[in-house]
Amino acid sequence: MKVLIVGGGGREHALCWKIKQSILVKEIFCAPGNGGTALIAQNVPIKAEDVRGIVDFAKETKIDLVVIGPEAPLNLGLVDMLQKEGIMAFGPSKNSALLEGSKVFAKNIMRKYNIPTADFEVFDNPDLAKKYLLDKKAPIVVKADGLAAGKGVYVCKTTEEALNAIDDIMVKKIFGSAGDRLVIEECLEGEEASFLVFTDGKTVLPMDSSQDHKRVFDNDEGPNTGGMGAYSPAPVVTKEVFDKVMEKIIYPTIMGMEKEGCPFKGVLYAGLMIKDGEPYVLEFNTRFGDPEAQPLLMRIKNDIVPVLMGCIDGKLENEYLLWEQKHSVCVVIASGGYPGEYKKGYEIKGLDEIDNDEVYVFHAGTKLVDGKIYTDGGRVLGVTALGDTIKSAIDNAYDAVSKICFEGMHYRKDIGRRALARGDR
Ligand code: AMP
Ligand code: GLY
Repeated sequence: MKVLIVGGGGREHALCWKIKQSILVKEIFCAPGNGGTALIAQNVPIKAEDVRGIVDFAKETKIDLVVIGPEAPLNLGLVDMLQKEGIMAFGPSKNSALLEGSKVFAKNIMRKYNIPTADFEVFDNPDLAKKYLLDKKAPIVVKADGLAAGKGVYVCKTTEEALNAIDDIMVKKIFGSAGDRLVIEECLEGEEASFLVFTDGKTVLPMDSSQDHKRVFDNDEGPNTGGMGAYSPAPVVTKEVFDKVMEKIIYPTIMGMEKEGCPFKGVLYAGLMIKDGEPYVLEFNTRFGDPEAQPLLMRIKNDIVPVLMGCIDGKLENEYLLWEQKHSVCVVIASGGYPGEYKKGYEIKGLDEIDNDEVYVFHAGTKLVDGKIYTDGGRVLGVTALGDTIKSAIDNAYDAVSKICFEGMHYRKDIGRRALARGDR
């Protein structure tokens, strides 16, 4: 088979790495890819959002299977376009991708199918939104309806902040038409976890739990980022919590989407808040998480290509996942200044000095030029390690991180700390 992976982050490098191990796969392409995918696959200079360009390339190159990493092409209808050409595409259709592409759509599905989530109201008028806010107590959360590159959520400590958020989204329109509507919702407390499943629209194959680290600095301080690290499994998701998530969240969502006439196929990712053992949905994503994909894929022992194809052709009931009974930890190394402004083009040194079978360095914002690797984005590398215990996975990851060096690099020193604090399970 010829496989094309769409995207160029750490998640896509991890997908390339995992899919390359399949005996079913002969050739693998990545659009646009990064310095890491260039070492194991063939990069194609087409942006993930250039859906027409991707379809044309897939047709010309006779690609058998396209696996889509990021949300933007899903929301542009890439899966539907590929299917029309008879090309297998892993990911939800444009209509089903609305679970991530529209917070209003997602919240309404949750309300209709009784899925636990923060109480909310939807507004398309800033004055009415502000009036509603004045009757509510802070903290409160304001979210732009549409895709906003992970920046459309404002967790507001004060009413003042929330009023400013409404102005940003609806008056200044800093996210464009993504801010035509907004959601105001109750602020939930607890511990977050990421819960990802494969689904063909009916059958669900859950992955093990994971946890992201969204803030840029240790102890969850500083601004939000795309994710500064992740680990799997996440001990906050106990067996009881896992069963509740499946029963109260995952199955009702999958059944609800089918009833709505947009059966969901692909990876459904529920971003959860867990309070006193009860899970609530913060958001749905319609794809693998980044960086969660890195530690998750490193723990899956069997071939995932049959699983991906099972999601596409409705035969997931015949597939399975075999989990490495180890812990995995991914530490993201970012460019100086990220998530604000940063410079690119610094040479990355020390990658060759990492000599540990339990470590793999996934690339995100990197490029390969004349055999050397240079920084080329905000999140640069995801150093991912396995270990028999969470502690040994953390030690393996940080030991490898200590060998890597580029100008201005920074990373969190406390990835996995929460799992460690809960006891080494
Ligand atoms: P999102 O972009 O939807 O993933 O949201 C970004 C982050 O905002 C989440 O990971 C949470 O940390 C936070 N968040 C979103 N919704 C809520 C909520 N209702 N209560 C508390 N925190 C929230
Ligand atoms: N790590 C969060 C996300 O992929 O959206």
